[in-house]
Amino acid sequence: MISKKIQDAFNDQVAAEFYSAYLYLSMASYLESIDLPGFANWMRIQYQEEVSHGMKLFDYVIERDGRAIVKAFDAPPSEWDSILNVFEASYVHEQKVTGLINDLMDIAIEEKDHASQIFLQWFVNEQVEEEASVKAIVQQLKLLGDSKGGLFQIDRELGRRVFTPPASSE
Ligand code: FEO
Repeated sequence: MISKKIQDAFNDQVAAEFYSAYLYLSMASYLESIDLPGFANWMRIQYQEEVSHGMKLFDYVIERDGRAIVKAFDAPPSEWDSILNVFEASYVHEQKVTGLINDLMDIAIEEKDHASQIFLQWFVNEQVEEEASVKAIVQQLKLLGDSKGGLFQIDRELGRRVFTPPASSE
């Protein structure tokens, strides 16, 4: 069984992951509104990934005989100034999430909960990937400048991204 402190912290993180999901869904809507369906597709996949992160935490709390609590979270923004602004905001957000995961790991260490530490290792690794993938898009957008042809090309590439659910054993 998990401690009350771990249970509360994990439940907070479930809400944080679902907030991330809504943030990316909102970004997808904005990107659709400025006629970039491929970038929007990339954000829709991010949405699905965040839901899977939230569910992974939710299921873990239950598996450890804890009580998973579904909490409210604030509405995400719905407007951004530009596509670059969207991806920069996403990068800043992922850095914030990395901080939250590190805080969770610190609590698991304090509580001497070894199983939670091992479980959270997946999220530590995932955050490295999350930050790197969004940063790569920010860099591509900066290099493009005002090139509409380049933007169209990347939009087509990102439109091919598909969702791969994380393996349950990971
Ligand atoms: Fe659930 Fe994008 O981190």
